[in-house]
Amino acid sequence: MSPLTSGLLAAFAFAASALGHGYVTTFTTDGKPNQGFLLDYYYDKVNSGSFPDIAAWYAENLDSGFVAPDAYGTTNISCHKNAAPGALTTTVSAGGSITFQWPANWAHPYGPILTYVAACNGDCSKADKSSLSWVKIDAVGIDYTTQTWASQTLINQAGKWTTKVPLSLKAGNYVFRHEIIALHGASTLNGAQNYPQCFNIAVTGSGSSSLPSGTLGVNLYKNTDPGIYLNPYVTITSYAMPGPTLWTG
Ligand SMILES: *[C@@H]1O[C@H](CO)[C@@H](O)[C@H](O)[C@H]1NC(C)=O
Repeated sequence: MSPLTSGLLAAFAFAASALGHGYVTTFTTDGKPNQGFLLDYYYDKVNSGSFPDIAAWYAENLDSGFVAPDAYGTTNISCHKNAAPGALTTTVSAGGSITFQWPANWAHPYGPILTYVAACNGDCSKADKSSLSWVKIDAVGIDYTTQTWASQTLINQAGKWTTKVPLSLKAGNYVFRHEIIALHGASTLNGAQNYPQCFNIAVTGSGSSSLPSGTLGVNLYKNTDPGIYLNPYVTITSYAMPGPTLWTG
């Protein structure tokens, strides 16, 4: 790609980043719709002290809507800024699917999409985000042949992303952590943008696998990881997926 084209693309990506405000508006578990945490709920909380009881986690992704790599060492990376557990827990079957609906006009086509789970060991509405131990169950980066990032696929799917729940995952209460990492600014250190969102979901079924030991949120990523700090405006022939090893059950 010519420097001029990369420059124009970078400028476009920068302009597009003003659209930010990325969050999951709804998520379906085995086809059943569940409410996502809407920014309006933040204002409901500020103005009236309360907001609806939902399975999605509360978060204050108010500004430009992301967690930057210089905050990877804080609990904000777990479930977004000042996150707190949702009051409810929804259900999904082991082997079933969860479809996350991001804004249909998602504007960042460069970057991977990942989903993690952590066991609550009790009621997920009481979960402590700093001790949740995350196991990666889904991660899609870039198709080397077409140079299509997972984020572009999400845009092509009008903001939808479907994750399969491992068939062998033991029944129980889990927090699912779903995340887009936008890389349009990633050639600058701390220029990537993480958009994590969390959901309380009880897995049902007769799976027999407990999760392997996971990774605390503060240890998931480093700002110098090769999949976080890279120039996305070149042909990518090898992409180092950020975070711990994938577990599919
Ligand atoms: C999380 O982000 C918010 C908003 O930027 C900030 O006020 C808060 O201090 C951060 N929390 C931690 C644990 O760093």
